[in-house]
Amino acid sequence: MSMKVCLIPGDGIGPEITHATKKVIAAAGADIDWIELPAGAGAVAEHKDVLPQHTIEAIREHRIALKGPLTTPVGGGFQSINVRLRKIFDLYAAVRPIRSLEGVKTRYDNVEIVVIRENTEGLYSGLEHEVVPGVVESIKVATRVGCERIARFAFKYAKERGRRKVTVMHKANIMKLSDGLFIECARKIHQQEGQGIEYEEMIIDNGCMQLVRDPSRFDMLLLENLYGDVLSDLCAGLVGGLGVVPGANLSSYCAIFEAVHGSAPDIAGQNKANPLALLMSGVMMLNHIGMAEAGDRIKTAYNGLLARGDKSELTPDIGGTGGTTQFADALCRRIR
Ligand code: NAI
Repeated sequence: MSMKVCLIPGDGIGPEITHATKKVIAAAGADIDWIELPAGAGAVAEHKDVLPQHTIEAIREHRIALKGPLTTPVGGGFQSINVRLRKIFDLYAAVRPIRSLEGVKTRYDNVEIVVIRENTEGLYSGLEHEVVPGVVESIKVATRVGCERIARFAFKYAKERGRRKVTVMHKANIMKLSDGLFIECARKIHQQEGQGIEYEEMIIDNGCMQLVRDPSRFDMLLLENLYGDVLSDLCAGLVGGLGVVPGANLSSYCAIFEAVHGSAPDIAGQNKANPLALLMSGVMMLNHIGMAEAGDRIKTAYNGLLARGDKSELTPDIGGTGGTTQFADALCRRIR
């Protein structure tokens, strides 16, 4: 029986990589009935809204979506649609697995980190105002409920997946109340629910240095919203860049899968974008909806292609001379 999944192609490279991802998922035999939905800068012309109501309603009804990247204007304009979606559906946990891949050349070959990012609070609450001309305030929100639930999520994830350690990175030496609450809750949940999982705290500036010096000492990172955003990209740089890091945004009733990267306007429309990060997000989605066999076929295909594929079948960001379509077609050939 086919499964209905919402699909937001998104902006910039979004349409190219979602097209490629759909093609590979179909080749793997997953029977998905995609419901294509508008959102982003591209939705304004036709729907006069960056996030049309029918897109929200469809996600509410089907509760699973695969989303391409969405452009957010810098320093003004509309509020981030990504942030809005995370708030509307209470997608409080972002999961971003970051792994070294055979065939993708980097400084390290032993990175195996899962970033767990709190996705609804912190400075992303969007509470900003001008106090007096020339003075602005951005409010960083941390709630006990929010901090405890993301910690609970992280330790549950660690136990279910046999992970060994959770490192909480913070700046509670400076933000004594907000980051202080985050680590207080993490400690408490670790004591109550994290038996067998090693627990570590690290001030985040040192944490960044430790990550680039020896990423193999880390297993899982538990981070508040902004730190999680920034460190996800840092960690992506350890394994070959934004083209190879997937993500899931999860709530208790809904899941939106998306790559860590943005709309990459510098390469949009040029057949240069690596579709792998979105495809990997698609594999996470297939696992989530009980189609793990199709997901495994895709994983085997991309691992083989990266390790032994011809350069002409890979995108330039990972040393290839091909493009988005060549990559997707090569994966389809390997799967069949
Ligand atoms: P970006 O992630 O779009 O691009 C950063 C760099 O990585 C660029 O050089 C780009 O070419 C490269 N890159 C990204 N994805 C790639 C891929 N799949 N294959 C090959 N190269 C890739 O970040 P940037 O430029 O800071 O943001 C562009 C727009 O994306 C902004 O409007 C931003 O707000 C938005 N954004 C959206 C996200 C989302 O929808 N979840 C996440 C991050 C940014």
